[in-house]
Parts: sequence; C-alpha cells; structure tokens
Amino acid sequence: MDNYYYVTKQCIPNAYSIIKVTSFIWKEYINLTKNYSYLRYEERDVYMEKICVIGLGYIGLPTAVMLADNGWQVMGVDIAEDVVNKLNRGEIHVGEPDLHLLAQKLLEEKKIIVRVVPEPADVFIIAVPTPKTTINTCDMNCVELAVKDILPCLKQGNLIIVESTVPPWTCENIIKPFLEDRGFKVGTDIFLAHCPERVLPGRIMQEIIENDRIIGGCTPVCAAKAAEIYQTFIKGEIIITDAETAEMAKLTENTFRDVNIALANEMVKICNRLGINALKVLDIANNHPRVNLHMPGPGVGGHCLAIDPYFIVEKAPFTANLISTAREINSDMPAYIITKVRDLIGFSPGLKIAVLGVSYKGNVSDVRESPALEIIAGLKKIGYEVAVYDPLVEMDEVERSIHNTIQGTDLLLILSDHDEFKYLDGEMIGKLMRSPIVFDTRNIWDAGLNQHIKLYNLGNIYDCKYSI
Ligand SMILES: NC(=O)c1ccc[n+]([C@@H]2O[C@H](COP(=O)([O-])OP(=O)(O)OC[C@H]3O[C@@H](n4cnc5c(N)ncnc54)[C@H](O)[C@@H]3O)[C@@H](O)[C@H]2O)c1
Repeated sequence: MDNYYYVTKQCIPNAYSIIKVTSFIWKEYINLTKNYSYLRYEERDVYMEKICVIGLGYIGLPTAVMLADNGWQVMGVDIAEDVVNKLNRGEIHVGEPDLHLLAQKLLEEKKIIVRVVPEPADVFIIAVPTPKTTINTCDMNCVELAVKDILPCLKQGNLIIVESTVPPWTCENIIKPFLEDRGFKVGTDIFLAHCPERVLPGRIMQEIIENDRIIGGCTPVCAAKAAEIYQTFIKGEIIITDAETAEMAKLTENTFRDVNIALANEMVKICNRLGINALKVLDIANNHPRVNLHMPGPGVGGHCLAIDPYFIVEKAPFTANLISTAREINSDMPAYIITKVRDLIGFSPGLKIAVLGVSYKGNVSDVRESPALEIIAGLKKIGYEVAVYDPLVEMDEVERSIHNTIQGTDLLLILSDHDEFKYLDGEMIGKLMRSPIVFDTRNIWDAGLNQHIKLYNLGNIYDCKYSI
C-alpha cells in the first residue's frame, strides 16, 4: 500500500511536521483535517491545553513529563496513593535514565500536578497496565476502570487516547460503547484514538521523542486530533491509521521479537543436542545481510514481549499457531536453565548458587515476568542454597553486596545483562567461590586470564556434565 505525506500546522505556532497517512483513509483524512485546521487554527493553542494522564508508571510518567515540558498543563492521575504521595513529595518512583531531574523540576513548578482522582481536562491519555489473566488473555480491568473514572469528567470536544497495549478492536468494541452510552458520538463530539507506546525501557526519555509514532483514530478526525498532541514533542514520523490497525501493529512488533527470540532459543536446544556451539552458529548466521536473529537467553520477561503475543492468540486461537509455539518455547527456558544447572553441578544438600540479576533485562530495575524469578524459585525448590544480587532491584531476598553473594558458592549464574556484570573481576570470583564455575546465560562475561574458572554459556553448555 502506498504511503502519502501531508504537512500540517501544529498547535504550537510555526512548527511543522510530516504526517504519514496510510492510503485507505487518505482522502477522508485530508478533507476532514482541512476543515478542522481551518475552523480551529486561530484558537487551537487555547482550545486544547489541559491533559490528564491516567496511570503514572513506566509509560505514563515519562509521557506526562514530556507533555509538561512542551507547554501542556498536565494533571497526572494514579490509583495508587503511594505513587501519588511520592510524586507530590518530589520522589520519582520510575527508575529511568534522564527522568528524575526533569520530573522533579516540573512537579516543583506545578507544571504537573498529581492526583488520585481525575478532573475535567481537554485530553485524557490512558497509560494503565494491561497484564495477562491466568488464562493468558488481556486483563482489561485497569483500562475499563480508568475509562469509567473519566466518564464523569468528560465534555464535548474531549479527546481520549489509549496508550496501553490492548487486543485488536478494543477501542471500537470496548471503549467506544462506554462513551456512546454516556450520550457522546465518537468522531463528532468526542474523539478516541489508540497511540501505542514503542519505547525501549532504559531509553524511554530518548525514544519517546525520537521514535516514529502510530496514531490510530476511531475516525480520521480522531486521528488528526491525537496527532496534534504528539506533534508537540515527537521528532519522529507520525503514522496515521485506524485504531484496530494501530492496536494490531503494536502487538505485531512485540510478537516479531518474541518469535525471533524463540527461534534463537530453539537453536540453542537443538545445537546442544548435536554438540554444536549455538552462539557461534547464530553469530555466523547473523553475518548474512538479511538475517537478524536475536540473542537467546534464560527466557523472555517484562511487561510487553512476554505478554502481548497472547493478546493476538486470544483473538485467533486456532490460527496463531506459530505465535503460541514461540510463547511456549520462551516460557520453557527457565526450566531449561534449571536442568542445565543440574547437569553442571548435580545436586547434593549444601550446594550454593550465586544468582546475578533479577530484572528481566540489563540495566533496568523491572522484574515483571522476569524469568530470573522462576529460575530462583525452581533452584530453591530443588534444595540449592541460593543467594541473589542485583544492583538495581530492591527486594527482600536481594543482597546488597556482590562479595557476600558470591562467597563460598559452587556456581555463579548470570541471569541479567547489567553492565556491572560485564566487568566482574575474574580473580575476585576465583578467590571467593568454593568451586569456580560460572554459567553466563547472557553471554556477557569473559573470565579473562583466570584459567581456573570453568565458564559456560548457552553455546558450550552441551559440554557440561557434572563439573564438580
Ligand atoms: N513498560 C514498557 O516498557 C511499555 C512499553 C510499551 C507499552 N507499554 C504498555 O503501557 C501500559 C502501561 O505500562 P507501564 O509499564 O507504564 O505500567 P506500570 O505498571 O509501570 O504503571 C501503570 C500505573 O497505572 C496505575 N493504575 C492502574 N490502574 C489505574 C487506574 N484505573 N487509574 C489510574 N491509575 C491506574 C498503577 O498504579 C501504575 O502506577 C501497558 O499497557 C503496557 O503494556 C509498556
């Protein structure tokens, strides 16, 4: 399908940006936005000025900060009182580089005010969690509650943007009826769009500005109105489409990555059976100009990749076979790692394992769906003594000293690729451990000159029967 480009004036005077419009709604979009621009231009910067962001977590807080930093009057709303109280004290609970100082400044200047209950505004952005249920469907409770909470605040002309990741047709079939039951006509007197977030945790403050943004309107005017908001702080391209395509595109992006990782993980299992180093195989295969395999690892975690593919499976359970299988492969990796630990050191009472890393990926504090949690629990269940260290994660069982964690252990198991772990001192490890065996599931560490350490990763693990 061809894409077209349309230059539009933003609500910030003198600023222009390019909007990419998929062709099937192109004509309608141009006509409607022309009228809209003509009618509203003079008053536009006073027409929409107050934005209410619902849900102040990893996505909502950076979004609120970006909007406030770009001239919008922002009200942040979170159902969790402790989140609201912390923010009102200037304490930033989201551990994301470059967020703290800016958020603190904007809170201090009252450019963001934080509340537990929403108040009337011009625009409402919903960024609440969409976890999975126990039967692997999307748990829509938070989204539905957020929509119900804003209903009493809504007035004609309001724009509602859903940033939460949701299954296809959510805006049309679930959220729109709430608004229309209230007497509003979506696309005429109230506007609804899905604008999924595509940022990478650890780089959210950069990517929220630089990434291209999908804007899926329930109608073209809904999309045009939502595009106006994002144009005020986004440098990337704005891609206009309908709501259900936007919902499905976001899920497809994360599913692509989950399936890709599943292929790499399956290659690890196959190569280990065949006595071939999987990491070398993947490295060489990636040398091909059209191959881009992701890295294998101890499993897939986080609030996105480990969950979003299920939202597609939920809508097409008998068709989404590849996606379901990929999820199974990745969900099975923690069990595979535990089996390999047993192969490595066997089991006898008193064997001690030091686990480095609890978060689901490197340099973030997020432990949601982290495979490390399952691996730690599984190792303890077998009867190993397990000590855990993670410099970024605050949990009761996480040690604050790496030395104490490693001291007297029989296996060092690296589960998160934090930068700190890339530069571990081999000499220190050799001295502190009872038997110096390292299983680096992220392939980030090199024992250097220390010849006494037995180092395993997902490439050479086939060679590991009972090292002690
Ligand atoms: N974290 C990511 O990297 C990422 C990336 C892309 C998309 N997303 C999507 O963005 C959405 C939000 O994710 P997150 O990581 O920011 O979640 P989060 O858990 O970090 O934050 C969500 C916040 O919403 C609050 N909340 C829950 N229900 C509420 C309600 N009814 N009213 C007001 N506040 C409410 C919670 O207290 C919490 O503070 C999810 O759908 C997620 O899939 C996340």
